[in-house]
Amino acid sequence: MADIHTDDDYKKIILQKGFLDFSVNPSLDLFAEIEKLKKEKNAIVLAHYYQEPDIQDIADFIGDSLGLAQKAQSTTADIIVFAGVHFMAETAKILNPHKKVLLPDLNAGCSLSDSAPPALFKLFRDKHPQHVVITYINCSAGMKALSDIICTSSNAQAIVESLPADQKIIFAPDKNLGAWINKQTGRNMLLWNGACMVHEIFSMEKIIKLKVRHPNAKVIAHPECEAPVLALADYIGSTTGILKYAEKNEAKEFIVVTESGILHQMQKTNPAKTFIPAPPNNTCACNDCPYMKLNTLEKLYLCMKFELPEINMKNELINAAKKPIERMLEISASLHL
Ligand code: 13P
Ligand code: SF4
Repeated sequence: MADIHTDDDYKKIILQKGFLDFSVNPSLDLFAEIEKLKKEKNAIVLAHYYQEPDIQDIADFIGDSLGLAQKAQSTTADIIVFAGVHFMAETAKILNPHKKVLLPDLNAGCSLSDSAPPALFKLFRDKHPQHVVITYINCSAGMKALSDIICTSSNAQAIVESLPADQKIIFAPDKNLGAWINKQTGRNMLLWNGACMVHEIFSMEKIIKLKVRHPNAKVIAHPECEAPVLALADYIGSTTGILKYAEKNEAKEFIVVTESGILHQMQKTNPAKTFIPAPPNNTCACNDCPYMKLNTLEKLYLCMKFELPEINMKNELINAAKKPIERMLEISASLHL
């Protein structure tokens, strides 16, 4: 690799690759180095449950999308290092426009977010001017700017129910979560046709076969899964909801129908219980989110050391996207969620 001397050189690498790709000395104790950088820079590391185990272990806070947004809103750190995907880091930046928000790899996108391009969604929204737009947080800032209220999987039902029963609603971008909320609430929200590639890959047939082999196992699923899979579940909820259920429920075995990263916390908090990842409908390891898993401990270390890649956004977009996020946080706080 050519000699690198200036900030501009680092920025060029980020533009080309999306992350700093220097090789890290393998004898370096990355855990100790990251702890040192946290203190030196007054930085906080926020991690989603789908991150690799090492990242979860070094994080100051691990949570679901709602917990992470709430933590991003309340932190007093100067630098927020987001070990998650782009829309999560973007949400942290929207809530903290004056803070530095870092994401170890800018390529950490989201298939669900990609399924809702703002320009197309605007045409759809404009055809339904009487509808309130509730948008799942797994979307771009451009989508958030076109929305009235944001929600996550842990507060979606409560947000929908906070509106009058006869209020017309558009729900975007996840059709599976939207359909599940329609079923739970008896509403008839108009659904955008988006989905998550990881949660749509689970095989109903293979879960049924697993259930035959483990008749006492509870099936716990994320609401981004398709309806036939959700119909098999004993509990449906956000990543935090699933974790809490596994902790409180007396069963000894659980079939886990969401991204496999969550098994790390489940096993850590419940060492005597068995967690079986639900199989995908083919032989690949598709229950790993390819975007979440782009972040590594090495990239996290480099990103903290060089304070790159950074999330930057135009003020106009920040202001437009902030309103519906704050509305969600206000409703959640009033309901103690
Ligand atoms: P949670 O809000 O449950 O953490 O879900 C985030 C996500 O990306 C699910 O695919
Ligand atoms: Fe997006 Fe699905 Fe990955 Fe979650 S698991 S970040 S919804 S692609």
